[in-house]
Amino acid sequence: MNEPILAPSLLAGDHGAAAESAALVAGLGLKWLHVDIMDGHFVPNLSFGPAMVAALRRHGSKLFFDTHLMLSEPQRYVEPFAKAGASRITIHVEPAYDHAAALKAIRAHGCRTGIALNPGTPAEAVEPFLGLVDLVLVMTVQPGFGGQAFRADTLPKIAQVDRWRRDRGLDMRIEVDGGIDEATGALCRARGADTFVAGTSFFAAGDKAAFAAFFARL
Ligand code: DX5
Ligand code: ZN
Repeated sequence: MNEPILAPSLLAGDHGAAAESAALVAGLGLKWLHVDIMDGHFVPNLSFGPAMVAALRRHGSKLFFDTHLMLSEPQRYVEPFAKAGASRITIHVEPAYDHAAALKAIRAHGCRTGIALNPGTPAEAVEPFLGLVDLVLVMTVQPGFGGQAFRADTLPKIAQVDRWRRDRGLDMRIEVDGGIDEATGALCRARGADTFVAGTSFFAAGDKAAFAAFFARL
């Protein structure tokens, strides 16, 4: 099993103090920051663009920027996000575009790759791309907004992706995103998830060091 990684989500922090959110995460000894990019089209909400990623780098953040593109045309934005300083670029499987070409472009720009799927999308949709990705993101809420309730009906999908990973000896992580806290994180860990995005629960935690320590031992 891969070591567990906690990736706090910038979306749930103060948008007027994004650099402080990144510094808070780094100060806890965490390595990853999850950055949610929304286009008001693939999802009914807007968040940040490449300028935010570039600004965080300019303010000195060395975190691994786990960049989650909730975009209808993610292939158009690979280069801007790579140049801005994204570490991973995760794209969704649902929209129609050349997914394989986009994943190859992400790697060609020196970034790690990820493919994401919504709660209503079957695991089989990402199967053709398993050889091209470093991470599969199983959404545990319908993307678009933080603070939603975890969907337990996504648990079998995590287990299915984990079976493929083990049967085929794939070197990739399985990430969960949406409604993740200690309890739901443990449910996902039991199905094979190793990467945990936490927005609301992380920023609401009174003792963030204890919250991070819980996930480090999960
Ligand atoms: C949802 C985003 C998530 C979001 C999670 O569309 O992809 O990354 O920040 O927020 P919480 O942890 O509050 O569900
Ligand atoms: Zn996300």
